[in-house]
Amino acid sequence: MPSAFRVEPGGRLTGSLRVPGDKSISHRAIMLGALADGVTEVTGFLEGADAISTMNVFRALGVRIDGPRNGHVTVHGVGLHGLRGTEAALDCGNAGTAMRLLMGLLAGQRFASTLVGDESLSRRPMRRVAEPLARMGADIETADGTPPVRIRPVPKLQGIEFRMPVASAQVKSAVLLAGLYADGATSVIEPAPTRDHTERMLEGFGVQVRREGGRVTLQGGQRLRATSIDVPSDISSAAFFLVAASIAPGSDLVLEHVGVNPTRTGVLEILRLMGADIEVLRQRAVGGEPVADLRVRAASLRGIEVPPELVPLAIDEFPALFVAAACATGRTVVTGAQELRVKESDRIAVMADGLRLLGVDAQPTPDGMVVQGRGDAAQVFGGATIESHGDHRIAMSFAISAPRASGRLVIRDTANVATSFPGFPDLASRAGLSVEQTDA
Ligand code: S3P
Repeated sequence: MPSAFRVEPGGRLTGSLRVPGDKSISHRAIMLGALADGVTEVTGFLEGADAISTMNVFRALGVRIDGPRNGHVTVHGVGLHGLRGTEAALDCGNAGTAMRLLMGLLAGQRFASTLVGDESLSRRPMRRVAEPLARMGADIETADGTPPVRIRPVPKLQGIEFRMPVASAQVKSAVLLAGLYADGATSVIEPAPTRDHTERMLEGFGVQVRREGGRVTLQGGQRLRATSIDVPSDISSAAFFLVAASIAPGSDLVLEHVGVNPTRTGVLEILRLMGADIEVLRQRAVGGEPVADLRVRAASLRGIEVPPELVPLAIDEFPALFVAAACATGRTVVTGAQELRVKESDRIAVMADGLRLLGVDAQPTPDGMVVQGRGDAAQVFGGATIESHGDHRIAMSFAISAPRASGRLVIRDTANVATSFPGFPDLASRAGLSVEQTDA
């Protein structure tokens, strides 16, 4: 059923709230739990469509998984060599992380697999994973670089040293997961730091991972020991509220139990450079991941040149950051963010189109955007009907522009918001926005 958001203009954000669990960590908890010896208990699991796709793939591969029930999942691990093949295609839905990590994990199995996805995922590049895996000896076929992905068993994978051409945590993770099944050592060298949840979680499962500078190395054949995982709230979901509260006069909001792994906090640094008022409170460690409460108050934002080294550390937050840029005084320039073009949608083109429709001067460039902020105006955006192109983060980014809009926003094609943020309209409304889900 087509669904849309109807968002009334205005609102300020107050109180405290907890956004759903981290998507990256939720995928990995299922995957590593499945490969472990013993039973892994997961709490705080993201009950969103993407992580559920991963769960269903592992069920199809013979893993018993109980839940999710209020964020609680029990994974009955089958051990490194315990997965069972299936003739049926493994459906990753909208989830690029699921497909790319699975390519690595399945490349070293003794059975064949086929990975498929929805329309958006079927357009996304998979060669970046298939190529290094082929160097390890894997037999992987894509449809001219995109899904479906067919994987055939090979006698043995070989460890490699892989210098990644793009800063991608998904590619790094896929190669490391294949490395568990390879002879000898597998090393990945990153061109810039990317999220390190795979490395941290592997260590949590007892795998020895060597990390020096931009290089990550593991030895093949190591077994995983079941553990318990408490998934923090997703900073990528919190980001919508960080921006909304920053741009909505009178806001003062606390976001509880947010994952603040330094490979994910680029959004905090960028917003602070823009003048945002964000306090990191009660920092603590949960499992192997740092967690904190974030207090954000309304602030006058200013345009900046976003330091390119922060781009991979905030890659999923740019749709929301472009909204912040529109509400800043002066010009914001983003460069080095060409990866945005191959996410769930072309996030440079789609955000620029939507912002321009709302009256903002947003110029897309091949690797970023130039936004002329209108921070001096109380109302920065007009009211309009915006196409999200089925991209969850685009839909939520336009929804949180409401505090500075002059009219109603209708955002179309919002069903995929549930991939990462089930319950977004309710939580946003509880915080002080007016977001209603409709079937229009
Ligand atoms: C993710 C890595 C990032 C990010 C995605 C989740 C992960 O993708 O955009 O939402 O969980 O490893 P890339 O590796 O393509 O940068």
